[in-house]
Formats: sequence, structure tokens, C-alpha cells
Amino acid sequence: MIVDAVAYAQAVEDAVKASAAYYTGGTSPMDDDTYDRLVRAITDWEAEHPDEVLPGSPSGKVAGGAVDGDVPHTVAMLSLDNVFSAEEFTAWTASLARRVGHDVERFSVEPKLDGLAIAARYTAGRLERLITRGDGTAGEDVSHAIGTVEGLPEVLAEPVTVEVRGEVLMTTAQFEHANEVRTAHGGQPFANPRGASAGTLRAKERAYTVLMTFFGYGLLPLPDTDAEQAGRLHELSHSELMDRAAELGVNTTAGTAVPSTTAATAEQVLARVQEIAALRAALPFGIDGIVVKADLAADQQAAGSGSRAPRWAIAYKLPAVEKITRLLEVEWNVGRTGIIAPRAVLEPVVIDGATITYATLHNPADITRRDLRLGDHVMVHRAGDVIPRIEAPVAHLRTGDEQPIVFPEVCPRCGSGIDTGEQRWRCENGRNCHLVASLSYAAGRDQLDIEGLGHTRVVQLVEAKLVADLADLFTLTRDQLLGLERMGGTSTDNLLAALTTAKGRPLSRVLCALGVRGTGRSMSRRIARHFATMDHVRAADAASMQQVDGIGTEKAPSIVAELAELAPLIDKLIAAGVNMTEPGATPPSAATAEGSEGASGSSQGSEGSAGSGGQEGSAGTEGAAPAGGPLAGMTVVVTGAMTGVLEKLSRNQMNELIERAGGRSSSSVSKKTTLVVAGEGAGSKRAKAETLGIRLATPDEFAELVTDHLEQPAQ
Ligand code: IVH
Repeated sequence: MIVDAVAYAQAVEDAVKASAAYYTGGTSPMDDDTYDRLVRAITDWEAEHPDEVLPGSPSGKVAGGAVDGDVPHTVAMLSLDNVFSAEEFTAWTASLARRVGHDVERFSVEPKLDGLAIAARYTAGRLERLITRGDGTAGEDVSHAIGTVEGLPEVLAEPVTVEVRGEVLMTTAQFEHANEVRTAHGGQPFANPRGASAGTLRAKERAYTVLMTFFGYGLLPLPDTDAEQAGRLHELSHSELMDRAAELGVNTTAGTAVPSTTAATAEQVLARVQEIAALRAALPFGIDGIVVKADLAADQQAAGSGSRAPRWAIAYKLPAVEKITRLLEVEWNVGRTGIIAPRAVLEPVVIDGATITYATLHNPADITRRDLRLGDHVMVHRAGDVIPRIEAPVAHLRTGDEQPIVFPEVCPRCGSGIDTGEQRWRCENGRNCHLVASLSYAAGRDQLDIEGLGHTRVVQLVEAKLVADLADLFTLTRDQLLGLERMGGTSTDNLLAALTTAKGRPLSRVLCALGVRGTGRSMSRRIARHFATMDHVRAADAASMQQVDGIGTEKAPSIVAELAELAPLIDKLIAAGVNMTEPGATPPSAATAEGSEGASGSSQGSEGSAGSGGQEGSAGTEGAAPAGGPLAGMTVVVTGAMTGVLEKLSRNQMNELIERAGGRSSSSVSKKTTLVVAGEGAGSKRAKAETLGIRLATPDEFAELVTDHLEQPAQ
């Protein structure tokens, strides 16, 4: 809230400064949300004090009036008005209908890409000039960037003279690469992808080149376009123009997870807004809203434009996902496998309704790469349920008081040495460092499911030095357990019985309980089903390991190495009587089990039996599931709450069921998905399946399909 004329003048000055930085050098001291609020406060105050509006005020101007340029636009490059809710959007459609004289016939709905507007002029199909939006009337020539913007071809598929308009941005991968290169050249990192694109687009003499990406959202004739072509372009609807742009070779959102679509009614638009919003977190580029346009040229012409924005289009803004806050501290936590992971402690900041206090930092190299320092202002990104991450320090807000982040020299948990050989540092004591965490995990419901062995009990056992590893659990005696506090006869007998049951669990669960790095529940099941016995798993070299669905060249050697490291523990488990076979699975043929070289000496005669490398399985799921089954060759995604007979199954049990029925479970919907089981409250995954035309099933339909596999084999 602005209280008086002095505060108003200050607000105008701050906003103009921030806007200029935002559009030019990419070093805005404000995040978008803060800027938007400031401009809204300015507009509110001006509405109350119309006689005191300052000429420099950013309200009602393209780019807040902060930038200009010297290359005139042939048609003004306008901004967009915003709405922030379904109600505001519906009110906008009503006002649009009044203006046009009837409901608009069709809307086009597309993501609002979070980058910078650019006009690309093509003469006879050749890219000749790149111009920024500037003040909307004239922009800056940034043709030097030609060749660094993917999706903006230097030659079009046809020799036409046209202007393509759209957004230049950096994908997350391009941004991370750009900051790496920039800091390696002694430069300061950019705070976020848009800032990085703004800075990069304007930079003329850099010692390095980094790439950006273009998405077109407009196509118009230039004064030199032949009259017939120009006439045709003027008549095309927005969606037809986008098809034409793609035909000419320009990148559009068509190939992304959020392609432009059309909708006949406001309700349909709102449904699509929800879909795009739900997909936002997983997109490889930033969007800050959804742009809704009257699709037909006639409707657009009837609606007309104001000086700042067209009346036929609106931006439905999504909540900000980025905020600037301060990095207070870095914590080093040791996980159950001994990985020492840094975590950023932040000055609490609210992003999209959630208070964020921590952000992931991945590994020490990540800290170095991002050039982070304690006390830094940092741009924090949080979208959907994804763990918040630091995009980069806001380097120009540094005061000089920032301190280097000190990396630990010994394990912060047990004081052992640290293995720094890989990107993720690890305590030399490995999974024994955080024994409580690794045992609690092993005893968990989806692993060995040992009833009565909760976290507190595990702590007791470890503190009493009764267990030093997983295998020790299985040699615990009645007397040892009775000696523990709050451990009576019944609890002891129950725990011993639960341990006996656990010894008989399938190999897949034992593997999972071991916590082999790089393998979770589903991967453990695939390994167990492929190899059938622990002997076969252990005999596998990297080549054999790669025969398992989902294990590639990178993962295979590390899993093999992990298993070698775990050998003494596995031997101890075998000695304690723990089951090491997978019910229902058959070991791979000798040729497959031995990989390329054959290690067991029994390879004679295997040649020519099953072709090379065990290719006989169908659709790449060989060994991952029993042959055949109603889901053979299918990739299934389960989303929403299950009902009926499936209601009691945990996610892990659902995955087990899918695999028993011959399918493969996956957590995300993609073109490879064959079936989506959509339960109650299914949201974005269902929407994506619909967009991609993937088969959908209700929980009941799915249960019917896999009915013969509903019962688990004895465990
Ligand atoms: S249409 C005359 N479509 O948002 C219509 N703009 O806040 C003007 N933007 O200046 C633009 N994605 O830089 C349009 N799909 C999209 C867009 C989009 C991002 C940007 C554009 C514009 C700004 C307005």
C-alpha cells in the first residue's frame, strides 16, 4: 500500500529501475512477484489520485516505459493485460463478447513463455534481423544473436518475407550450462533463465557462446511481403498462423508437453488452464501463465487493441514460482547409504502459499558450479510438489560480506573420512554410518516389512550394540531382546516371529532392503525377476546387468560395484537363513546370465541358443515380468486414489501387481505410456494421458483386467 505522494514517487522510481534492469541486463533486484505487486500498488494509488500521476509512471506502458530502441516496429509489439482468477477471466470473456458483439467463436490457449519478446524479420526466407520489443514502437537490433537461438532457423522452408514474433528463453538445461560457462570465464552467474536470456541476447562481445531457444507465437507480413501472401496471413486464425509458422520451420509449442490448443467456451479454456498449470513443474522451460487469444482474425479485428495491450488476448497469470531470499547456512546430512548431501537453509520465504526454508543443493560440485556463498541473496524456485531449488545467487546484490561455504573434511555424522571420488560425496563408513536410517528403511513396509521394528526399536538395538548391520537382526536371541527396556515377553516373541517371516521374503525385497544405490523398489523387483536368485545377481557383470529393463550403461557398473561392496553383508544374510530367491522367476539362460565374456565356465554350447544378449523377450521387458500376462509389453501409470479391490494396496503393491501381470509401472506419463489407471482425484497425469490419446482405465476396469494376478504369491 502506498500512503502518500512521496512513497508513490519512490515506488515509481523503484519500479522503473527494476524494469529497466529486467529488460536490459537481466540483473533486476526484484523478483517478478515483488515487481508485479509494486506496479499494482502504483496503479491503485493513481486510480485514487488521477491528478498526481507522474509522467514516468510504469503503469499502462509496454515494458513499464523503461526501455526503448531505434528500430521501428512495423506493427506495435504490445504487451498483455493480466487476469489472476477464473472469475476475472470469465469477466474478461464477457467484456470481449460485448466489444465484438457476440461470443467469440473460438479461443486459442497456450503457455505464457517466460522469456523475452523478439521479432525476427525474414526476407525471401532468410533471417535478416532480430529486434527486441523495446517500448513496443521501436526495439533494439540484436541481430548479432542470430545463430545462437535454437528454433529460429536462418533459412525458412519457403522463400517468404515475413516477421515471426515469439519468445526467446533458456531451457533449464541451457540456463545451467550458460551459468557454468559464464562463471568459468570469471563472470557472475545470472539469477534465473530469463535474466540469462536478456543478458545473453544483448551481449555483443563475449568470449563464449551459449544457446537460447525460441518459441513463435505470432506471424505477420512485412511491408515487402507480396500482397497475396500478406492478404492470406491477415485472414488466417491464430492457430492457423501457428501451423504455418511450424510449416516454415519455426519452433512453436506444438512439439512440447503444452501445445497450443483451441477451445470453444470459457469453461473449456479454464479446464485447459488447469491442465497447463498442472504440467508446469515438469516442463523443461519456465512459463508464468497461460495466454488466451480470440482465435479468429475477424474476432481479433472486431476487438481491437489499446496502446499497451490487445483487447483480444489476455494473460492468465499463474502464481510466481521464484522468489529472492537469503542463504543462511548449508547443512550436511548423511543418508541411509552414507551419501553426504548438502542442503540450503534459507531465510523463510513464501512461494505459492508454502513457506520455504530449505532447498536442495544436490552435491558439493553443485555449490561450486553455482558459485554460492553464505549470506548470498538467492533466487529460489519451487513449482508444484517438486523440492525447492536454488537457481543461482543474485550476484549483483552482493555486499562483500558473503562468506565461502565450508565443505566438511570428515563425515559430519561419524567423523570417518569422506570418499570424494564421485560427484556425490560418501562417508567411508558407507551404510553403517547411518545404521539407524538404513535398518529402519530395510524393516519398512515395502522392504522386509518387519512388524514391531520401528525407528525407536532400531535406535535401541543399535545403541545397545546388538546389531551392527542388517544381518545381525536375524541372529538376535530372545534373551538379548528381553534385556531391552520396554521389551516384554509378548513383544519379544512377536518381533522374533516377524523376523522369521522376514527371512522368507522374496529376493526383490531383500535387494531393496540392502539399499543398493541407484535401485529403488521397482528396479529391485526387475533385477530379482530377471536373475531369479542372488547367485545369479552376484555373478552378473555390467553387460549382464544391462539386460535388465531400465538399467543402462551408466547404472550397470555402479550396481555391480555396489553389490561387490555388499558381498560380506549378503554372505552374512545367507548364513542367517535369509531367502535369496524370487518366487515365480526363472534364471536367465546361460548365455544371458554370463554377459559378453561368460564367467562361470559353463558357457560351452550356449552359442546360438537364444541369439545374442537374450533378445527373445517381448517389447523390452524381457525378464522384468513373467512372460505373457494381460499387461505384457505395457507401460502403466497409476494416478489418483484407488477404489474397490485396489483400495487397500499401497503404491508399491500396485507396482508389484502390474509387474506380476506382465507390465511395467512408471510414475510419469509420456508417449511410451500404454495405460493410465486414473483413480479418484486424478489430475495432471490424467489430463496428459487425454492430450496424448493414451488409454485410460478406472480402478475397477483395471482390477478386472488383472484379476488373475490380484493375489500375491506366498512370501
Ligand atoms: S502474445 C499482441 N503469446 O508475454 C499479443 N505473448 O506479458 C502479444 N508472451 O510481450 C503477445 N508467451 O513477450 C503472446 N504465447 C504467448 C506468449 C507471450 C509469452 C510474452 C510476450 C509478451 C508478454 C506480455
